[in-house]
Amino acid sequence: MTRGNWAVSVVGATGLVGSEIVRQLLKRRFPMAALNLFASPASPTQEVYLKGRWVKIRPFSLNAIRDSEICFLAAGGEFSRRYARRIASLGNIVIDNSSAFRMNSDVPLVVPEINPEDLSWHRGLIANPNCSTIQMVVVLAPLHRKYKLRKVVVSTYQSVSGAGTRAVAELASQADAILNGQAPRGAVFPHQIGFNVIPHIDTFDSEGWSREESKMLNETRKILKDKEIDVIATTVRVPVFRGHSEAVYAEFATKIDVDEVRRELGHAPGVVVMDDVDRSIYPTPAFCAGEDATFVGRIRRVPGSNRALCMWIVSDNVLKGAALNAVQIAEQLMAGHVRSD
Ligand SMILES: NC(=O)c1ccc[n+]([C@@H]2O[C@H](COP(=O)([O-])OP(=O)(O)OC[C@H]3O[C@@H](n4cnc5c(N)ncnc54)[C@H](OP(=O)(O)O)[C@@H]3O)[C@@H](O)[C@H]2O)c1
Repeated sequence: MTRGNWAVSVVGATGLVGSEIVRQLLKRRFPMAALNLFASPASPTQEVYLKGRWVKIRPFSLNAIRDSEICFLAAGGEFSRRYARRIASLGNIVIDNSSAFRMNSDVPLVVPEINPEDLSWHRGLIANPNCSTIQMVVVLAPLHRKYKLRKVVVSTYQSVSGAGTRAVAELASQADAILNGQAPRGAVFPHQIGFNVIPHIDTFDSEGWSREESKMLNETRKILKDKEIDVIATTVRVPVFRGHSEAVYAEFATKIDVDEVRRELGHAPGVVVMDDVDRSIYPTPAFCAGEDATFVGRIRRVPGSNRALCMWIVSDNVLKGAALNAVQIAEQLMAGHVRSD
């Protein structure tokens, strides 16, 4: 791996995250010597028009990716488990969007605003955190540094785009069917998602916690490097196309001052404070869709406690929750945190 323009690959380029990674690479002028796009062998060959030329999306093969230097994976956990390490062994730095390797001790889990230093110890594979976790820790990290975070109780309101292209189509078709007096049909979600909410994201463990809820606990601890933090999450799918929202209760080891918290978050990287309830100003997913930042509002002290606050956090799950964070990781690598072995 050398400095300069890199040969870049995106696997899953027909999907929500992969296609957004391509858009972000171009929008942010990531220096590329080549851009190779891949999807599954099941996809008919497609071409996308990028910056004045047509680029083919090809079926993925290890051979086709051999000349690449940095590879974004957005093709699901099964694909990543099978190929991520093999792609890395071909000399690529792999940035993986799936949950397959996030908790592996040899794989950094990185939010560039928080722990870019962890890129210095990567061994060719870097994990992008879970979308709900990223937006929560972007807001909590500066407060953790100042007040020492001890406990989080969070309920999420997660959009269907978090479950991929088919999930977006399922909400659209169910909403259409219901409004036309027909029975909603679906295959992606375990229940009707049109005009409904479902407290079930990913699989459940024997204690009744969903994997999405456990990811929020484990990934927060890894990114903030503090195993004492408790995160008690209830993760819920809502009939919103884009943008995850979170109602967060956060408890700290030391005294907090809410005005100071607002000021602190006001200059935190990647965070926009949107908080004026008298004028009905707070973030909503419709407002935040398509935006790079993570928005926070409804910041308020918890009655009877000078160490706890509540807030409302919203971000575009496909952008900061996935594609943008992945491209920011690549930018950090380009800036100097290259392979350490
Ligand atoms: N959506 C989000 O907000 C979000 C947030 C964080 C993380 N993620 C993670 O990002 C990954 C992609 O999610 P998504 O929402 O973009 O899903 P998606 O819209 O369903 O797209 C999946 C992509 O993977 C490709 N693919 C599937 N199997 C493949 C194979 N064997 N070889 C090559 N390509 C293959 C698909 O290609 P075809 O078109 O050929 O099927 C498609 O391009 C998942 O691991 C997901 O958990 C998503």
